[in-house]
Amino acid sequence: MTELAASDDGALCFPEGFIWGAATAAYQIEGAAGADGRGPSVWDTFSHTPGKVRGGDTGDIACDSYHRYREDVALLASLGLSSYRFSLSWPRIQPGGRGAVNQRGLDYYRALLDELGGHGIAATVTLFHWDLPQELQDEGGWAARDTTERFAEFAALAAEALGDRVARWITLNEPQVVSTNGYRNGDHAPGLRDAAAASATTHHLLLGHGLAVQALRAAGAAEVGITLDLHPVRVLGDNGPAELELGRLVTDAAVNGLYLGPVLHGRYPEHAPQALLPPAALIADGDLDVIRAPLDFLGVNYYSPILLRAGDPADLRRNENPARCQLPGVVEYLPEDLERTPMGWLVDPGGLHQILVEVSRQAPGLPLYVTENGCAAEDYVNPDGEVNDVERVRYLHTHLEAAARAIKDGASLAGYFVWSLLDNFEWGWGYQKRFGIVFVDFGTQRRIPKASAAFYANVVRANAIPLLPANWPR
Ligand code: FCB
Repeated sequence: MTELAASDDGALCFPEGFIWGAATAAYQIEGAAGADGRGPSVWDTFSHTPGKVRGGDTGDIACDSYHRYREDVALLASLGLSSYRFSLSWPRIQPGGRGAVNQRGLDYYRALLDELGGHGIAATVTLFHWDLPQELQDEGGWAARDTTERFAEFAALAAEALGDRVARWITLNEPQVVSTNGYRNGDHAPGLRDAAAASATTHHLLLGHGLAVQALRAAGAAEVGITLDLHPVRVLGDNGPAELELGRLVTDAAVNGLYLGPVLHGRYPEHAPQALLPPAALIADGDLDVIRAPLDFLGVNYYSPILLRAGDPADLRRNENPARCQLPGVVEYLPEDLERTPMGWLVDPGGLHQILVEVSRQAPGLPLYVTENGCAAEDYVNPDGEVNDVERVRYLHTHLEAAARAIKDGASLAGYFVWSLLDNFEWGWGYQKRFGIVFVDFGTQRRIPKASAAFYANVVRANAIPLLPANWPR
């Protein structure tokens, strides 16, 4: 267990060498969708399909970080961050997802990496943050096994071309969301509602991860890991029916275990619903050994928990939703007394503590990074030209406190990346939801660091959580 020191004024200190960062993703910030030979991705196709994204927003321009990356790196430096997590746009580097590289795409990332290096900021690079080349989608996307080989090739060429400047590689971002939202319920690109394609996608993403790990290692990559969205599952009420505990196990297997199990232990979890499990015919001999290749770290994205209570899925009450475990007598529930963000997501810092401690129990000693955590807020520029995002400051404060407590309770947490550096294209919600610690005026591309950026910079500078003033709005 790591002892957390308390400084003189009582602030909670993080361990020495703790990595502080901010995260973004290519399609959400780069813009320049048609520039320098970039091919189309599934998110270009999806966002340009009427009715798919709020307000018809697309990532065509986004934060224009493709042209403004120097300004964005300067922002990271001004916050004192030690690492930047960003993703590579696969179709910028391989426009059709296979074959020869587009040198101008690679040049962009090399320039970005050089700029980061010049400021002493270590690069944490995600290979796949959802923008699959459209040509691969036309051949089945992740539902097709061939995409796993294409992904391994992409990993190899990215590591060869850029690896000397990359501190750590993340193969995939949130495969659970790709399978569920992209292939099962159609809220995300490619917009499929196809249960068979979704369960095949789960297995192929995991296999693609394993093959990419091999490719990255062969190219001499330093640190290699994967980022999973993890959701603590809790049961409300003491005297619930036995189904509730089973509901917890099944829900946990459906959202967490389906990915954690194969990656950490080389097996799909026993409680996973049959409908989500990839059919045995898709799992070739040796696949699970490839998938469970040892990792240097696990990336954890945490936003909110899943709470269950006894209820009737056929007769839902206020704040109840059908449970994804689909057991009779069990519903998911959003308690009235827990705050929600403008995304409708519950605010529950205790959930971050829970998930970090639980994962460290499952994988003792494996370094964890929180690779995303943050919240949407209704930010605006006030008459003084400032963005005073008190909700986000409070959110970050309470979640960082939970992270610090998790370290104290045995979690091997080695770093934290706030989501996000910039307001950006929030997938199906377009530009309506702002997650940045830096405000972006999308009309002028002006960046305005919010109050949360100043708060975060203080945490980073002190390597500790300062106490909030007593009069801070609660
Ligand atoms: C995560 C995504 C990230 C961002 C946040 C709010 O699921 O990885 O790109 O959209 O949610």
